[in-house]
Amino acid sequence: QKDGYRFFMEKEIYEQADVITDTLLGRLSVDSVIFDELDKSLFEGINEIKLCACGTSYHSALSASYMFERYSKIKTSVEVASEFRYREPIMTNDTLFIVISQSGETADTLETLKMAKKAGLKTLVICNVDNSSMVRLADSSILTRAGVEKGVASTKAFATQVTIFWMLSLYVAKLKNSLTSDEIASQIHLLREVPASVKVSDAMHEKIKRLSKRYLHGHGFFFIGRDVFYPLALEGALKLKEISYLHAEGYPSGEMKHGPIALADPELFTIALLPQHLLYEKSKSNVEELSARDSTICAISPIEFDKADDYIRTKEHAHYMLEFFEMMVAVQLLSLEISIRLGNDVDMPRNLAKSVTVE
Ligand code: M6R
Repeated sequence: QKDGYRFFMEKEIYEQADVITDTLLGRLSVDSVIFDELDKSLFEGINEIKLCACGTSYHSALSASYMFERYSKIKTSVEVASEFRYREPIMTNDTLFIVISQSGETADTLETLKMAKKAGLKTLVICNVDNSSMVRLADSSILTRAGVEKGVASTKAFATQVTIFWMLSLYVAKLKNSLTSDEIASQIHLLREVPASVKVSDAMHEKIKRLSKRYLHGHGFFFIGRDVFYPLALEGALKLKEISYLHAEGYPSGEMKHGPIALADPELFTIALLPQHLLYEKSKSNVEELSARDSTICAISPIEFDKADDYIRTKEHAHYMLEFFEMMVAVQLLSLEISIRLGNDVDMPRNLAKSVTVE
């Protein structure tokens, strides 16, 4: 069943190109995104989007907030479901409430969906499981088509969620005329390149396998990035925590100097996401500051960075979102290889369940 892979997580990382192809299938024309499952009236009278989720799905929601504001020009906020449900939130009916869940059964997320429905909001779920509780409850649903995900550490579900959000932000941009037809067409062209960008190259996997042995015995990891690479940094840190049991934190690169940099020393490993097409110089200078304080740096970038101790080279892409997807694969593989070297059960990490259906 693992088809020669050591763990389901590894198999699922390698499956990402195929499942993203499925996610895109029939949903792209030359200059528009097609969601037959959505009624266009879903967005009528909507001035705000609120996203709510847990764990990895929360990270994809956070990445969506950048895309909805940048491309769809619609005010967007993101909430951790376990917080949202108890904090007496203000909900107005010009808000579209979107929940994100691989399983569609996560108790806290399901509860927020019930709250939003009760408050009379329009609701949408982005989910991987048809006929799950959330799909049955929400007004509308978009299925991510990632297939069954067995590894407790989510990989391909995250990849397809982010793909859907990129598409949905363009779908809304078309409805709201916030991007021109040409701009949408060129982004659709890029979307078609996502499967190729997540294809695992032997060179990258081998490099990460070799490099992983340097990263087993520090006192912690920082994953840092800016803009959409910040949610990716959070996701990289979560992956590593889940399966390696090493301490890891995701941070916006610009936050380092506000406290965390005090931890910098050679035993503090910084995994720096340095895309070419988004705030490269700003991100680089944050990494230089960490390097000057002797943190061990692993740069993930298409541009070689002389202050880095290690370097995972990504390809040159035409757009930062394609860089995002390739870097996503790099952080997934890094967690996988560190966990394997530590002798852990990658697919069944201690203390965790695939689906959290109780509070
Ligand atoms: O099924 P859901 O997407 O609602 O699950 C949410 C989280 O429990 C889940 O993403 C969790 O964080 C994963 N183990 C992450 O790898």
